[in-house]
Amino acid sequence: MRLKSIERVEPGDKLGKAVYDDKCQLLLARGVNLTFKYIERLKQASIHCVYIEDYLSEGLEFENVIPDEIKVRSITAVKNVFKEVTERKGVSLSTRGVDAIKDIVDQMMDMIFQNRDTLYVMTELMGTDMYTYNHSAEVAILSMLVAKSLGLNGQYIQKVGIGAMLHDIGKMKIPNEVLNKRDPLTPSELDQVREHAKLGYELLKDSDAVSPISRQIVLLHHEKMDGKGYPMMLDSDDIPVHVRIVTICDIFNALVSNRSYREKMNIDMALEIIRTEAVYQLDREIYYHLIKVVNIYPVGTVVELSNGKMGIVIKENKDAQTRPIVQVIKDKKKAEILNLLNDLTLFISKTIEL
Ligand SMILES: [Fe+2]
Repeated sequence: MRLKSIERVEPGDKLGKAVYDDKCQLLLARGVNLTFKYIERLKQASIHCVYIEDYLSEGLEFENVIPDEIKVRSITAVKNVFKEVTERKGVSLSTRGVDAIKDIVDQMMDMIFQNRDTLYVMTELMGTDMYTYNHSAEVAILSMLVAKSLGLNGQYIQKVGIGAMLHDIGKMKIPNEVLNKRDPLTPSELDQVREHAKLGYELLKDSDAVSPISRQIVLLHHEKMDGKGYPMMLDSDDIPVHVRIVTICDIFNALVSNRSYREKMNIDMALEIIRTEAVYQLDREIYYHLIKVVNIYPVGTVVELSNGKMGIVIKENKDAQTRPIVQVIKDKKKAEILNLLNDLTLFISKTIEL
């Protein structure tokens, strides 16, 4: 199984993973052979890429910490809570909505503690219309994994997860025309978008069901270590660790996600950007934990090597993520197998689309 962009998908390609619609209902099941009609349907559902099974990726499966079903359920839970905010003006969140979020965070926690050594693979299961909800779920998973890697205890991790799920809830109070604007925002529109941190906090501040730690995440997730963040321009000493975790995971996930107006960035490039930002604006220690929990080159990733050869990752080296086992592809056929751990002169120069 490997990820292929919708522009490159051809009739006859077999789906390697199920695809869901904007109601989180199954759109196309795993194993379906794509036709022109199906490809059109995927495009209409604003789906940018799908997992396919082909000759090159035959038999390649990656393990993931969080199974797709739990991720889809978490996206549904976020969507329900966020919709509730849009529909019921000015009222704080219902306990039922928060309980559903807590429930799914607990299920994610179980998975994270059961699959201790499994890395997280960013997966695309639905279209870009679902970005806000998908992003919230993904930031929550990443933040919980980072929190665990940092050695925080279970109760603390749960609060980080809930805060991360709800971090952008204030965006539901901002007009869609501003949020989805393709052109650069005017200064006043930018101020309006930045209000989402405070607005989110306002929604939760009277809710006993949401802990102070989770609420702080919602209010402060755009603060930066150099004091240039918002809404309070806090200094690094005043930004708690649970907030710093979510800030990094939020930026990282935004970079590696497809949006309606731009293609996603590859994971290795996004991590490079975060590494540079970590010098002044982000927490460098947390960055190192992020690299430990994310699968940078999952099995099925097509890569270009430093010797110019192209290949597909067929197995990970768990202790050396950047040096997996790669099957070289020559003239669209499988060629020799290279274990990058045994040949240290070779490295992956970039991930590519095929
Ligand atoms: Fe935000």
